[in-house]
Amino acid sequence: MTLKSKKILLGITGSIAAYKTPALVRLLVKQGAEVKVILTDAAADFVAPLALSTVSGNSVLNSFTNGDEWTNHVELGLWADIFLIAPASANTISKMASGQCDNLLLASYLSAKCQVCFAPAMDLDMYKHPSVKANIALLQSYGNFLIPAEIGELASGLYGEGRMAEPENIVAFLQKQF
Ligand SMILES: Cc1cc2nc3c(=O)[nH]c(=O)nc-3n(C[C@H](O)[C@H](O)[C@H](O)COP(=O)(O)O)c2cc1C
Repeated sequence: MTLKSKKILLGITGSIAAYKTPALVRLLVKQGAEVKVILTDAAADFVAPLALSTVSGNSVLNSFTNGDEWTNHVELGLWADIFLIAPASANTISKMASGQCDNLLLASYLSAKCQVCFAPAMDLDMYKHPSVKANIALLQSYGNFLIPAEIGELASGLYGEGRMAEPENIVAFLQKQF
């Protein structure tokens, strides 16, 4: 399936894998998608908003407000054809599973009417923790699509399952899915 003209809302959370997201955005844009980015506060420690706004061609969103204007998460949720959360941290996965809503990404998730895909990224022991597994299963039971973490070298220096799927594989997943 083609991603041409698809509106993709990309939510980026606080994982070291966030450094790969400008490359991910570029690949999506090359496929003809329009991309808007929401960063959590923690994500902004790992990837520069300027890099993401440059490759996406859109301002990067982070807060419920921009000056005296409301960043309308309801409109964002309705705008998107696909809401992709990559990388998805253990923290955000847990908050999504329990319906918490203390940032723009989570409010947009709860407002989204479209297909939601999430690509976890974390260290191997975090990824196999029963609470993380249970939260992932819960999100899947709500109809969200898991883009499984891959096996490889992790930022901790350990080797195992937990790496965010490579940008090319995320794009291939979306193309297959939609
Ligand atoms: C260097 C560093 C790397 C981190 N990498 C990850 C990670 O890969 N996955 C993860 O779930 N949390 C990771 N964390 C922890 C998250 O950044 C932390 O839980 C944060 O509160 C997540 O917030 P967010 O979900 O709102 O983005 C990392 C923290 C640091 C300092």
